[in-house]
Amino acid sequence: MRIAVTGSSGKLGRATVDRLRAEGHEVLGLDLAGSAGVGFTRVDLTDYGQTLDALLGVTARHRGLDALVHLAAIPVNGLVPDATTFHSNMAVSFNVFFAAHRAGIRTIVYASSITAAGFPFEDAPPYLPVDEQYTAANNTYALVKVMEAAMAGQLVRWAPEASFTALRFTNIVAAGDYGTFARAADPTYRRDLIGSYVDARDGALAVSLALRHARPGHEVFNIAAPDSGNAVPSAELAAAWFPGTPVREPLGEYESLFSTRKAQEVLGFRAEHLWRAEYVPE
Ligand SMILES: NC(=O)c1ccc[n+]([C@@H]2O[C@H](COP(=O)([O-])OP(=O)(O)OC[C@H]3O[C@@H](n4cnc5c(N)ncnc54)[C@H](O)[C@@H]3O)[C@@H](O)[C@H]2O)c1
Repeated sequence: MRIAVTGSSGKLGRATVDRLRAEGHEVLGLDLAGSAGVGFTRVDLTDYGQTLDALLGVTARHRGLDALVHLAAIPVNGLVPDATTFHSNMAVSFNVFFAAHRAGIRTIVYASSITAAGFPFEDAPPYLPVDEQYTAANNTYALVKVMEAAMAGQLVRWAPEASFTALRFTNIVAAGDYGTFARAADPTYRRDLIGSYVDARDGALAVSLALRHARPGHEVFNIAAPDSGNAVPSAELAAAWFPGTPVREPLGEYESLFSTRKAQEVLGFRAEHLWRAEYVPE
């Protein structure tokens, strides 16, 4: 397939481009940042004209796309003022989704986030493990993730053959970033992420599986490692962090409290890079 990846110079974008190319796809990276070269075009996705033009075609790069992976965003609150996070990310996602619609690109996989599901969990979720049914935004970054999903849910009605897949990634850990797992035995470690994590290479695996399993309509999948990033048993963490919150399913000893059951069952997703193997004590 010919696939464009927005945010291709970022943490998840680099892993995704590598994986899709290794699988034999023709991949065009689209990002504000990055070095010129084959397979990359610099685009400011807050500009609708640039976005639409880049999806329709780019001289010496492509003359039409089969699918789009949308990862570009300001990835967290605090980097810029909160209103700027909202305006920038909202403009980027509207531009990308609507330009894809206009350009006739019907397979879209996009990055959502655990922030659309209650991060930083100052309020207890209604039940554990947290699945895709729970939506709660607590900052402007998360608000955009919720609004993207609302937009995608309507756009699939405008083009009934269109497929939008939201991957609700938890905190993405790059290969060299496992140092903080030195704190894994601390019961407060990753409390705001309900203990969860996912390796960037597994994030890329989820993107690849979502492209392969794309069906008309809008679907949401949580994406995390199957185990918690905390070395305290998950039932103990659940009881300590959220006393009184029902645990709906029997929990494996270190099972993630961010449920990936749906991604496992529907996409066949099973993260391969787990912190217990990746973390090397100093
Ligand atoms: N990093 C995480 O822990 C995490 C967790 C959940 C979801 N996500 C989501 O995953 C996606 C990728 O995150 P990441 O960690 O790779 O972030 P990143 O910051 O490493 O990469 C994002 C990329 O988007 C690009 N970008 C931003 N605004 C742009 C614009 N106007 N035009 C063109 N390019 C633009 C940036 O230049 C950057 O290369 C984002 O949508 C993010 O919200 C990330």
